[in-house]
Amino acid sequence: MTDPIGRRFLERLVAQPPGRAFMLAFLKASEEADEGKIFDTLVERIERSGDDELAKLVRRHRADEERHAAIFARAVERVGAAPSIPAELHVVTDLDADLGGLTTRFLAGDAGIADVYTLLQVIEERAVREWPAVVRALRLVDAMAAADVEAVIDDERRHVKYARAIARRYSVDDRAYEQRLASFRTIEERTYARHIQVFTRVVLERDLLAVGALERVIWRGLSWLGRRGLSEEESPCSIGSRSLRSS
Ligand SMILES: [Fe+2]
Ligand SMILES: [Fe+2]
Repeated sequence: MTDPIGRRFLERLVAQPPGRAFMLAFLKASEEADEGKIFDTLVERIERSGDDELAKLVRRHRADEERHAAIFARAVERVGAAPSIPAELHVVTDLDADLGGLTTRFLAGDAGIADVYTLLQVIEERAVREWPAVVRALRLVDAMAAADVEAVIDDERRHVKYARAIARRYSVDDRAYEQRLASFRTIEERTYARHIQVFTRVVLERDLLAVGALERVIWRGLSWLGRRGLSEEESPCSIGSRSLRSS
């Protein structure tokens, strides 16, 4: 959502408390994606490999993500009642499914540390790319919430570096790392495109945009066009699962 239309959408979404609370609750939900168990398993496996420095890094990463969820929880509280975030907006869960249930396979011992950290890398990269637009929109109405998101983005930049270093270290070689990363990025692009459509639809259904009747009709039209565009492609789910299974 970094183009002019996306920027306008975000500005109108966070302009009023209900939309702002929704945006912040959505960020909180993204931070809470069921990663706790995965981090536990990562720490356990890395400790078993004798790499204490790396285990420390993963523990710090886990603590950061828990802290981020708490920061956003407080930001939502300041705005008002916490809105529910529907399961269809849990983008990390969606991406995991599009990657053939990667985290479940990892917990079962059928996927490696390099796979999980490449997944984390593309998630962190997306936050670093997209969330500054949220900061800009928030700055117009809520300086404190904007500063919260900005501080979290600083951590996410560090996490991209962690993720890259760990995924590379646990890959067979640099070529394997680069190939996996390119494949995950392609799948994530499709998951994210689909996710934007769902996000827009939920916002419109809940009437969270601070716009007049005419502009609301325009947004509904744009949302409909976007959905139509996506449905004309092959399902991103099937593409993701197939490309992983065949690798
Ligand atoms: Fe985070
Ligand atoms: Fe992160």
